[in-house]
Amino acid sequence: MSVSIRQTTPYEGQKPGTSGLRKKVSVFQQPNYLENFVQSIFDSLEGFQGQTLVLGGDGRYFNREAIQVILKMAAANGFGRVLVGQGGILSTPAVSCIIRKYRAFGGIVLSASHNPGGPSEDFGIKYNISAGGPAPEAVTEAIHARSQVISQYKILEAADLDLDQIGATRLGAMAVEVIDPVADYAELMGRLFDFEKIRALFAGGFRMRFDAMHAVTGPYATRILEDLLGAPKGTVIHGTPLPDFGGGHPDPNLVHAHDLVAEMFGANAPDFGAASDGDGDRNMILGRGFYVTPSDSLAVLAANATLAPGYAAGLKGIARSMPTSQAPDRVARALGLPCFETPTGWKFFGNLLDAGMATFCGEESFGTGSDHVREKDGLWAVLMWLNLLAELKRPVDGIVRAHWARYGRNYYSRHDYEGVDSRAAEGLMAHLRAHLAVWSGQSLNGFTVAQADDFAYTDPVDGSISRKQGIRVIFTDGSRIVYRLSGTGTEGATLRVYIERFEADPARHDQDPQTALAGLITLAGQLAEIEHRTGRSAPTVIT
Ligand code: G1P
Ligand code: ZN
Repeated sequence: MSVSIRQTTPYEGQKPGTSGLRKKVSVFQQPNYLENFVQSIFDSLEGFQGQTLVLGGDGRYFNREAIQVILKMAAANGFGRVLVGQGGILSTPAVSCIIRKYRAFGGIVLSASHNPGGPSEDFGIKYNISAGGPAPEAVTEAIHARSQVISQYKILEAADLDLDQIGATRLGAMAVEVIDPVADYAELMGRLFDFEKIRALFAGGFRMRFDAMHAVTGPYATRILEDLLGAPKGTVIHGTPLPDFGGGHPDPNLVHAHDLVAEMFGANAPDFGAASDGDGDRNMILGRGFYVTPSDSLAVLAANATLAPGYAAGLKGIARSMPTSQAPDRVARALGLPCFETPTGWKFFGNLLDAGMATFCGEESFGTGSDHVREKDGLWAVLMWLNLLAELKRPVDGIVRAHWARYGRNYYSRHDYEGVDSRAAEGLMAHLRAHLAVWSGQSLNGFTVAQADDFAYTDPVDGSISRKQGIRVIFTDGSRIVYRLSGTGTEGATLRVYIERFEADPARHDQDPQTALAGLITLAGQLAEIEHRTGRSAPTVIT
């Protein structure tokens, strides 16, 4: 086996975001496209000679081909060892767990998260650092800069490896270990949660449905829920990862997890329902005929955290992204914990977790997690819920209603306007910015504005400042309207409007959120002139 140095020319636009480089499969299939990007990653890192790299993906179309290329390039570039998931499979939280456990130099995750997969759909590649989390901006910028001037890459001339046999092999001087993708992650979960109690719950006839959406959590959920915790066979549905996710959209929300939602809201529904996304970092939680918003889920889990063995000593703090509802803040206040409000994106939690300032964190976009890894973690949230259900012995809706009765309910909804003309969207945001000072202190449709600003965040650990993170209109009763443009969309712009209102009175906790929020929803449309500026009279997605 010999190392080849192949000549290449740059591709424009190899600019990774915090969730990596995401493009159509056909883009990745262009000659040297993947190779250029992988070499740019390696060229941007220092000190990995002889070190360990973790490698795996969510099983989507092009996963296996990409892994073979990356293995040969890692060998040619001097990595000492690669830990690769069997069949090329590793969930995003599992990669984070394995990097940390084996003190690896870093990891590469192949995924486009919740975007559809298949020959005409999306592929993605993301680099994670030794702490287990996504590469910080300085690293992703270096990778991008390198990709724009790259002229050659190194690859080992070797036959493809068998990724399906667990065991050790070599590629030139580099050791390759095909590992069980689930074992290390399952072991970590076993330390955080009371598996005995959860086993007893299932043994007592508790019924659950987990929708893996033909994505990466299938093998994880089957092993942990059915094999280790004794949930009946069939608890996990759509459990085989497929290259095209069975034609579905592996995003765990009320729209895309339709089979699960139909069952949970139908006759004879199971006690508990959950789903995860393509790469396993998102989660949706359902009770019988009941949907738990991600914001409420974070608040409930934090309020009851000490029921799980891994958090018995209590939390150090709670962190939530700014648009996430303020329900977790109320729990933090009651428990005397610090509460952090960060910009959107998991990367902003990294410093707080590393510094031991926060233990639980979450986003309204179906992301929940803790300091056990440095990614959000779908199955972690599901197991945390199972641990609570096993301890509290109440139905999901009962737990949430009791939570509202004690802390009050933060009615909450997100309205997305997808595929909006980019210039119209920018104009709408500029219009809002221009009016912030005007609206401050005013009464608008009966809501008095306490504060209106463009959210800026100073990281309490490194002092860095992130500006323009979303427009907040905060009212004197704590209600809020938040506007921001999506940073992950691929077509046009996506305007996200987040609406929240607090209700203390338990007699008023049973309203439909859209009804409870109607006044604020109307006001949100008026303030931003949404219909006039975008031509849209209604959002495309409401969650
Ligand atoms: C979306 C979510 C955000 C999440 C990100 C990555 O980003 O809103 O909370 O961190 O996906 O999963 P957005 O499209 O809003 O920029
Ligand atoms: Zn994801």
